[in-house]
Amino acid sequence: MRRVVFNQKGGVGKSSITVNLAAISAARGRRTLILDLDPQGNASQYLLGEAAEFGRDKAELSPNIGQFFAQSLSFKVRERPLSEFVHPTPFDGLFLIPSNPELREIEHLLESKHKIYKLSAALAELSEQYDEIFIDTPPAFNFYTLSALIASQRCLIPFDCDAFSRRALYTLMENVEETIKDHNPALAIEGIIINQFLPRATLPGKLVQDLKDQGLPVLDPPLSSSVIMRESHQRCLPLIHCAPRHRLTQELVSLFDRLTTPDPAP
Ligand SMILES: Nc1ncnc2c1ncn2[C@@H]1O[C@H](COP(=O)(O)OP(=O)(O)O)[C@@H](O)[C@H]1O
Ligand SMILES: [Mg+2]
Repeated sequence: MRRVVFNQKGGVGKSSITVNLAAISAARGRRTLILDLDPQGNASQYLLGEAAEFGRDKAELSPNIGQFFAQSLSFKVRERPLSEFVHPTPFDGLFLIPSNPELREIEHLLESKHKIYKLSAALAELSEQYDEIFIDTPPAFNFYTLSALIASQRCLIPFDCDAFSRRALYTLMENVEETIKDHNPALAIEGIIINQFLPRATLPGKLVQDLKDQGLPVLDPPLSSSVIMRESHQRCLPLIHCAPRHRLTQELVSLFDRLTTPDPAP
């Protein structure tokens, strides 16, 4: 299954959720790929640590998704298949296509040359080699997120229980619905993942209930807020390896099972 984790807002948990669901998937014996489409590269760094860091004196990992897109802008080069851009990770069965900052520079060229279906075709081909594919996206509705929505079969939407985010959520769902209608009828909104939920505070509880009352597809369980997430990032160890028995890890495991186990027939 190809899943995109999408929300135009930053800091809602896209990269954390992508990496942790994918790590759980791999730990369950499913061959799993993460595609990092955010030029910030948080998911790549979470998994590979220093090896994936880049800056003034440090080149980014190569090959990467920026190079995959860039080759489609040149007539001269033979286009390498997406499978050649995959890196192993320290975790069994978990693979990564890293991002790079060049994504920002080539975005307008890709857009003007109508390369919006490039990723979809490449990922469909690659799908045969993986049981699960997760795509992490930048906090924007841009060429890359649209490419990812067109390339996916399911869309997961992390939501951070913020009153301002709620209004943005409606716009976001409209954008996804429009993409389904115009570009990818095979895509379905799988659900909204409530992240950093504070069960004892009244406002988040009411917010979530309101969303459910409106018939929005809120997934259970909500994910707790815990410092273990920061520790997991710092140690470059997804939660299933860093703290397998932690409450937040167990919530993510339940969520993964929920996504991958079909509902019993009524
Ligand atoms: N459930 C959680 N509990 C505590 N901190 C979290 C949780 N989810 C995400 N975070 C923290 O919030 C920040 C933003 O998360 P991130 O996954 O990078 O969001 P995004 O990819 O949407 O920008 C990170 O510092 C991360 O460690
Ligand atoms: Mg991110």
